Amino acid sequence: MKKFLCLAAGLLMIVSLAACTSKKDELVMATNAEFQPYEYHQGDKIVGIDVEICQAIADDLGKDLVIEDMAFDSVITSVYTGKADLGVAGLTITEDRLKNVNFSDPYTIATQVIIVKDDSDIASPDDLVGKTIGVQLGTTGDLYAEDIEDAVLERYNKGFEAVQALSQGKIDAVIIDNEPAKVYVSQNDGLKIVDEAFTYEEYAIAIAKDNTQLLNEVNASIAKLKESGKLDEIINKYISSDN
Ligand code: ARG
Repeated sequence: MKKFLCLAAGLLMIVSLAACTSKKDELVMATNAEFQPYEYHQGDKIVGIDVEICQAIADDLGKDLVIEDMAFDSVITSVYTGKADLGVAGLTITEDRLKNVNFSDPYTIATQVIIVKDDSDIASPDDLVGKTIGVQLGTTGDLYAEDIEDAVLERYNKGFEAVQALSQGKIDAVIIDNEPAKVYVSQNDGLKIVDEAFTYEEYAIAIAKDNTQLLNEVNASIAKLKESGKLDEIINKYISSDN
């Protein structure tokens, strides 16, 4: 009996020790929470489509999600230097970025659009020649604007600052992703989106090149989210189909 008690006590100790050490691994998401509806501040929380997708992936992998908010042009760097596991910031897959990181399978598509004042004479991408254009530093909008003939480029740390400059008449147009553009136009009087969009882009999750295991796991999770309808559910929660 004594022997049994000892054994039981010993077992109990092992079990409780295991419980203590079984703190879940973390999954660190690098983002720039200036990009509604994908990632933005709501009170003291960071919410949005990307946050919910990442939370679902973390749940699927049995990990705790940790969100690191930073400047947009630090997101990819923090992934390839290993400071973060995932870069999730409405990131468009580009050739240039693929030199530094891997991308997961795309989880959604987007376009770059032009925001102008209601009375602007800019009606298509061709009309941007020679204009002053605002972009968020390091984004694909920045990349495209560079190619526009005789244009003057104003780079801002936040998309919102570019939109503010447009409202104040300091610049002629803003090039930015379509969904954040809709949010900005709905929140600021006197602005509109030019009908003609001028790119097609895919958003995906950036992962360090040497972390192929995580890449495979994330792709498997994304596939599950697509199949179960959960991905659509998350997107539809933030984006209404009628706008
Ligand atoms: N899709 C664009 C890009 O990859 C803009 C992303 C901006 N994202 C953000 N969270 N600020 O360059």
